[in-house]
Amino acid sequence: MKTLISGIQPTRILTLGNYLGAVKNFVQLQNESTDLDFLIFIADLHAITIPQNPQELKQHIRQLGALYIACGLDPKKIHLFVQSEVKEHAQLGWILDCCSYIGELERMTQFKDKKSKNETAVSGGLLAYPTLMAADILLYDTDIVPIGLDQKQHLELTRNLAERFNHRYGPIFKIPQIYIAPVGAKIASLVDPTKKMSKSDPNPKAYISLLDSKEEIIKKIKSAKTDLDGIVRYDETEKPGVSNLMTILSCITHQSFAQIEQYYEGKGYAVFKQDVADAIIRELQPIQQKYYELLASDELDRILDEGRDYAQNKASQKIRQIENALGLGR
Ligand code: TYM
Repeated sequence: MKTLISGIQPTRILTLGNYLGAVKNFVQLQNESTDLDFLIFIADLHAITIPQNPQELKQHIRQLGALYIACGLDPKKIHLFVQSEVKEHAQLGWILDCCSYIGELERMTQFKDKKSKNETAVSGGLLAYPTLMAADILLYDTDIVPIGLDQKQHLELTRNLAERFNHRYGPIFKIPQIYIAPVGAKIASLVDPTKKMSKSDPNPKAYISLLDSKEEIIKKIKSAKTDLDGIVRYDETEKPGVSNLMTILSCITHQSFAQIEQYYEGKGYAVFKQDVADAIIRELQPIQQKYYELLASDELDRILDEGRDYAQNKASQKIRQIENALGLGR
C-alpha cells in the first residue's frame, strides 16, 4: 500500500490552476488504484504565515473542504482533515526547523517572491513555511506527494531534510517521491501568462475561481492575453497566452496539443476562446452545484472529523518514534 498526501491553503476560493494542477490529479490518482492510503488536508497553519481575518479563515476552511469533495474526492477513498486539528504537524515543524539552515530557507523561490512583495512585514513563519510542509509529509511515512510545479522546490527541501535527519538520528523518515502531472502543472495568469495563476493575485481577471459564474468565465477567457497572429499553436516562449489556454483545454477535454492545433487551424481566436470558456463552464457547473449542497449540510463535518481521527492516530505514533530518536522528554 502506498501513502499519498497533499494539501492546499485555505486562502480565498480555489483557482482553475489549483484544480487542474492539483485537485483533478488527486481525483484521478484516487480512482486509479484501490491500494492507497491517501490523506488530503486543508493547510490552515500555512495560511497564517500572512495575517488572515479570523472569520474569513474559518469560512475558507469549510469552503475548501466542500470544494475538495465537490471536485470528486471521495471520503470513502481518502481521509480529509484540517491541518491545525492534528497538533503533531506544528510539533514536527519545530523539530525540522531545528534541522534546517537559514541559508537554504532563504533560497526558496516562494519565500523570495513573497518577501519582495511584503518588504516590511515578513514573518518568521514565512521563512519556516517549507519546514512545516516537510513535517506534513514526513509525519505520515509518505511515498508520493502530488503537487503543481511551484511546490517542487519545497519537496526537494523535504527530501533533503529527511535525509539529514536520518543521517543524524537513524532511519526514521521515508524519503517521499514527487508527483507532478505531465500537463497542467503550471497554469498561467490570464493577464500575464508569464506568471502563475494565483488565488492571491490582486487582479481577479488573472484567474478563474472555481465558483465564478458562467458570464464571468466567458468574460475572463475572452479578455485573456494572447498575441496578434490568430494562430492556435503551442509555443510556451513565443505564444505563452495561447499555450496556456491550450493547456487548460487539453486538461479538461484530454485532447492533445496536436489535435487542438489541427481542429482550430484557420478558425482564429474568437472561436477558440469561446470553446475554452465552454469547456471550463461544463467542467465547473457540476462542481458548483455539489459545493453549495455540501456547504449547507452537516456531512462535511462528519467527513472532517473522521479524517482528523485517522490522521491523529497515525501522527501520534510517528511523533513518539521521532521524540525517542531525538531523546526528547523523560
Ligand atoms: P497552494 O495552496 O498554493 O496550492 C495548492 C496546490 O495547487 C498547485 N497550484 C498550481 N498548479 C498549477 N498551476 C497553478 N497556477 C497553480 N497554483 C497552485 C500547487 O502546486 C499545489 O499543489 N504549500 C502548499 C500547500 C501545502 C502542501 C503541503 C502541499 C502545505 N503542506 C504538503 C503538499 C504537501 C501551497 O501553498 O499550495
